[in-house]
Amino acid sequence: MGKNFKALITSQKKDGSFENNVKEKLVDHLPNGELLVRVEYSSLNYKDALSAIGNKGVTRQYPHTPGIDAAGIIEESSSPNFSVGMPVIVTGYDLGMNTAGGFGEYIRVPEGWAIKRPNNLTAKESMIIGTAGLTAGLCVKALDEKSGISGMNAVVSGATGGVGCMAVKLLAHLGAKVTALTGKIDASSFLRNIGAHKIISRTEFLESVRGPIGKGVWDIAVDVAGGDLLSAILASMKYGGMVTCCGLVESPSFNGSVFPFILRGNSLIGIDSAEQPLQKKAEIWDHFSKVWKMNGLDKMCHTVNLDGIIPEINKILSGRQTGRVVLEL
Ligand SMILES: NC(=O)c1ccc[n+]([C@@H]2O[C@H](COP(=O)([O-])OP(=O)(O)OC[C@H]3O[C@@H](n4cnc5c(N)ncnc54)[C@H](OP(=O)(O)O)[C@@H]3O)[C@@H](O)[C@H]2O)c1
Repeated sequence: MGKNFKALITSQKKDGSFENNVKEKLVDHLPNGELLVRVEYSSLNYKDALSAIGNKGVTRQYPHTPGIDAAGIIEESSSPNFSVGMPVIVTGYDLGMNTAGGFGEYIRVPEGWAIKRPNNLTAKESMIIGTAGLTAGLCVKALDEKSGISGMNAVVSGATGGVGCMAVKLLAHLGAKVTALTGKIDASSFLRNIGAHKIISRTEFLESVRGPIGKGVWDIAVDVAGGDLLSAILASMKYGGMVTCCGLVESPSFNGSVFPFILRGNSLIGIDSAEQPLQKKAEIWDHFSKVWKMNGLDKMCHTVNLDGIIPEINKILSGRQTGRVVLEL
């Protein structure tokens, strides 16, 4: 008999709806790959929630175990590059999409998806950061390469969400003056604690921006929303401003004009974390363990077990999540 382990399993019912249950699985039934990893921690990202409700754009085949993030220990390896007992981080690529993901006690993955966890980062810290932090890190790195961060006026949308709160924290850590745009004004103390200098309700902000180009307020921006919020941010950038676009919680489409680009020399930079070459991901993890090493990460997350992840999935889908949710396996 092969080894059993516990995992969240999303399955489709006869009536076409989807349900999530914690069940036993067999290690032998995991997909092929050079590395068998005993997962210590995972984290909840918006994409996991989409996978857990049967979004076919994320996951085509069910039953399935979501979880695009995992930090754990190598338990079996057929790769000369990874030895048994080595701590690793796996994020993105197909993990948790159509490959059984980190919401289970074991994953088996190709060696090309794993990086050795930096010494200066615990497994839990790495999952507080997770794909949300990796994405925020890629945005900040892109902005830093073009304009620098220290002393800049920055704005972050979806500021209490996963990517948003990591972007606020990192930008503030690097010396930017950060404005948080949020739908949760009642989370102001959380936002101040992670470094927001100013907090603006997203409805008020949207109402204050009329037309394709308005008052130039910010030098750099991290947008997770798309839609009208991205249009309004683009209209509010200073001369030479730069906006990174990485999400679509409001809408995948947005209206705009060329004016911010041709009159103010603004730039819009697309960010993807999932398919980044492994070397680029490793650079960001290295930054988080050294120059971007931040205290107080544990204050921006709450930790749940497998049974506790289901209500958190519903919360993230309705935009009510504040901070990061870490899953302890
Ligand atoms: N490109 C990539 O590689 C990449 C990687 C990770 C995530 N993403 C994308 O980035 C987005 C955020 O992901 P996440 O994991 O941070 O999700 P999340 O934790 O759910 O955060 C999203 C936040 O956006 C705000 N929000 C919710 N509904 C909104 C609406 N209708 N309009 C504007 N803002 C709204 C909320 O924050 P406030 O209440 O504070 O406004 C919410 O907490 C998602 O679209 C996700 O797919 C992309």
